[in-house]
Amino acid sequence: MNDVRWWQSGAIYQVYPRSFQDSDGDGIGDLAGIAGRLDHLVTLGVDALWLSPIFPSPMADFGYDVADYCGIDPRFGTLADFDALLAAAHDRGLKLLLDFVPNHSSDRHPWFAASRTSRDDPKRDWYIWRDPAPGGGPPNNWISDFGGSAWEYDAATGQYYYHAFLKEQPDLNWRNPDLRAAMLDAMRFWLDRGVDGFRIDVLWHMIKAAGFPDNPPNPDYRPGMGAMNAVLQLHSTDQPEVHAIAAEMRAIADGYDGDRVLIGEIYLPVPRLMAYYGTDDSPGTHLPFNFQLIDAPWDARALHGAIADYEGALPPGGWPNWVLGNHDRQRIASRVGEAQARVAAMLLLTLRGTPTIYYGDELGLRDGAIPPHCVQDPRELREPGLGLGRDPVRTPMPWDDSANAGFTRGEPWLPLNPDSSARNVARQSDDVGSMLTLYRQLLALRRAHPSLAIGDLTLLDGSGDVLAFERRWQGECVIVALNLGNREQRFDLPLSAGFPRLLLSTLPDAPPNEVADGRTIFLAPDEGQILLAERR
Ligand code: GLC
Ligand code: MG
Repeated sequence: MNDVRWWQSGAIYQVYPRSFQDSDGDGIGDLAGIAGRLDHLVTLGVDALWLSPIFPSPMADFGYDVADYCGIDPRFGTLADFDALLAAAHDRGLKLLLDFVPNHSSDRHPWFAASRTSRDDPKRDWYIWRDPAPGGGPPNNWISDFGGSAWEYDAATGQYYYHAFLKEQPDLNWRNPDLRAAMLDAMRFWLDRGVDGFRIDVLWHMIKAAGFPDNPPNPDYRPGMGAMNAVLQLHSTDQPEVHAIAAEMRAIADGYDGDRVLIGEIYLPVPRLMAYYGTDDSPGTHLPFNFQLIDAPWDARALHGAIADYEGALPPGGWPNWVLGNHDRQRIASRVGEAQARVAAMLLLTLRGTPTIYYGDELGLRDGAIPPHCVQDPRELREPGLGLGRDPVRTPMPWDDSANAGFTRGEPWLPLNPDSSARNVARQSDDVGSMLTLYRQLLALRRAHPSLAIGDLTLLDGSGDVLAFERRWQGECVIVALNLGNREQRFDLPLSAGFPRLLLSTLPDAPPNEVADGRTIFLAPDEGQILLAERR
């Protein structure tokens, strides 16, 4: 395992800083809060934490609107707090990744303030300004991901600026060399401070087609899908020139010691996603996020196909990765239910590739119910009622059964989930049957068995609701068999498996060894098993 990188064998944990732990009573999570909770991550058994943005921000999109790329928002703390958090993480053997938001800044960033003052301002071209269409109106038909035209008219200079998200998030112009240099310097600022890498926000958005042609209509669009889906983002995203930027970022990261890693946020079909690994001559991100487990239907055959397609599409040397949830998407326990969420955890942590765990999923946290007067997410506020809002997946982390589940002594910025006094870290720590115990066991197995962390993967023939695969590394072979349905399933082990031993079941009270004849196992409803194949 000598040339294995930490970001290959390790597991990443996403912290949404506003919601993890508040230390000063303002109801908003902060860096000192996170620092005080690092031991949870150590006990859980993850290797790295990724923090959603912590930079100064007007919080129009809760930090994804950055007003200073080289600072810390006072709500989260200070640079000294950040350095302390980084040191505390490193002391515990944890890596720390930041969220770099290069596609757009806040409209309050001094660069944009300058850019909008006049057409001749030196920073004018750091953003994307266009004349109105010939008959007036926006320059083209591009739609913001949060609904409405992606162009905002600025009367002061008589032009429109482009914003793929909120109008408070003007897109930066990465075709401008000075902007590019300034942004890459911001990456260096944090790498110099010792961060172990970045998750790069909406990487596939960073370059737009030069002539700004209209996007084609989406033939599959139906009302209720969200306005952004009315057109296909053919010209506004995934342009070939983006790969040179990813390569430039990669060269910077590789110039530092200690295995810094770049993870790209990219929502694209698998064949196009693969280009974000780059090439041998010009490597891109180490891990272009793979959202197959979020996007594929929760069905054994569909997932078998998705895993096969993804594995088959990886470029030589490209390391896989898997994600079950994040701060933008429905929580897994709400999507598939509590019983299957345990199966999902086993899947996430036994597939070949780096897993990313979203905070709270290790407790089986569900989407919170957000009463209308508590809605915070601009996406919900702009297109209400379509189920696009992300507040439900950002509710505070429940730690114990004290007031506000130990998250804050003040008023939490979003309501805690109603089951927090029962579903929390303290309670689940002492419960051998809890989701938290299962996550800890799974992460411990990954450490104990290199085949799970870095071994090859072969999908096994399963039928019906069974999804099964083998992981092998040197002499070791581990079999994972998952029942994605709610009826008992029979699964015939491959002959080569010998007489396997049950290492872990998702059912806490599973009998110690269910392998009746060395050949056939029976999976209870919603059960997943990990078996260690032993030769006789
Ligand atoms: C990414 C983030 C999302 C944000 C958007 C705009 O998709 O994950 O939370 O709203 O980018 O920055
Ligand atoms: Mg706070």
